[in-house]
Amino acid sequence: MMKFPKDFLWGAATSAYQVEGNNKNSDWWEWESSSGKERSAEACRHYQFYEQDFDLAKGLNHNAHRLSIEWSRIEPEKGKFSESELGHYLDVITSLKKRGIEPLVTLHHFTNPLWLSRSGGWASRRAIAAFLRYCNFIVPALAKHVRYWFTINEPNVYVYHAYILGVWPPQKKSYFKAKAAEGNLLRAHIKAYRLIYKIYRRSKLAVPNVSFAHNTMSFVPCTRRLKDRLAARLRDNWYNFGPLNKVIKRKALDFIGINYYSRQLVDLKKWGIRNLAVDTCDKNHHPVKKNSLGWDIYPQGLYELLLKLRKYNLPVIISENGICTQDDNLRWEYIHEHLKHIHMAMNKGAEVRGYLYWSLLDNFEWDKGFGPRFGLIHVDYDSYRRTVKESARKLAEVSKTGYLAV
Ligand code: BGC
Repeated sequence: MMKFPKDFLWGAATSAYQVEGNNKNSDWWEWESSSGKERSAEACRHYQFYEQDFDLAKGLNHNAHRLSIEWSRIEPEKGKFSESELGHYLDVITSLKKRGIEPLVTLHHFTNPLWLSRSGGWASRRAIAAFLRYCNFIVPALAKHVRYWFTINEPNVYVYHAYILGVWPPQKKSYFKAKAAEGNLLRAHIKAYRLIYKIYRRSKLAVPNVSFAHNTMSFVPCTRRLKDRLAARLRDNWYNFGPLNKVIKRKALDFIGINYYSRQLVDLKKWGIRNLAVDTCDKNHHPVKKNSLGWDIYPQGLYELLLKLRKYNLPVIISENGICTQDDNLRWEYIHEHLKHIHMAMNKGAEVRGYLYWSLLDNFEWDKGFGPRFGLIHVDYDSYRRTVKESARKLAEVSKTGYLAV
């Protein structure tokens, strides 16, 4: 048996655009219509059904829930802020609190108001000021109810998909734009961090906990050859630690929000900057189980990462960890193995304070549409009926007792 601390945060995460439906003023909405991809449409109708969804979460013994605010609802036109949408999110957050569920709020989860993206998006420095204006509207209104903030979800994933791979809006493949966007997102985090602190001080509220949600990966050299080991080490430093170092140096992180899913096998085809950054192994000679998108399941990577993060002396919250699969036994195996490795790392001094599974509901998986099912709760997209999966019930036992049977 492994025992987790009494005050451990147990729950799941969602993002507004992926579950709410009808986010018509967002850059994603427009992109879906022009790209010919599956449309998010009504998504899970969580905008209407959030109370029922939180009842289910409560029934599963969740004491925490990570959600995001859709900026394009709050500020559908530049400078025009919506009091009624603000009221909606206030209701969402107070309905979590009524159920004894701690809200962890993300301010930016991949989507932008269309007007922002039309004026250059995150590749332009102007995005920083715009983001701060939005924070300045939303944070004071919610501050009384919120102790945990994530400014921005996964700057690295956003930049990679939008500006390097060019498969997400604004679909601009440009190294220079990618660099600019990455810098602007991290600068926006640092400034928002300070702004949130100012707002809490001004309102005489207890000091908040502010982070960004950082996507991490385990980089495993595919052979013992020096070039593979070196490339894996470089990617680990650049991808996993680069953004953290920048923000921690500026004293703008209270805890580390870690999103962890998978590993990448590193196989350097030849020496070269691009090869060092992107070459992966396609030989499948280290087979492991995979999720339905083909991502390797590799819980020991999370263990190794958590040990390395000890050097920062900051608490860690696992802000996302999950699997898309139709095989719910595999989902439980995934959760179980990751919890086991988290606990092993805690025994070696990692300060992990919570685990938020991705995701509470099956939902809109961006350019992959509704196919991949990550949820603890099944959503029928015709009737919008929710069905709790067996894996969710098993996790509920762990969150209730704090014990994981191993
Ligand atoms: C993102 C989620 C996404 C999940 C699964 C994370 O990187 O924050 O929005 O659905 O991964 O791909």
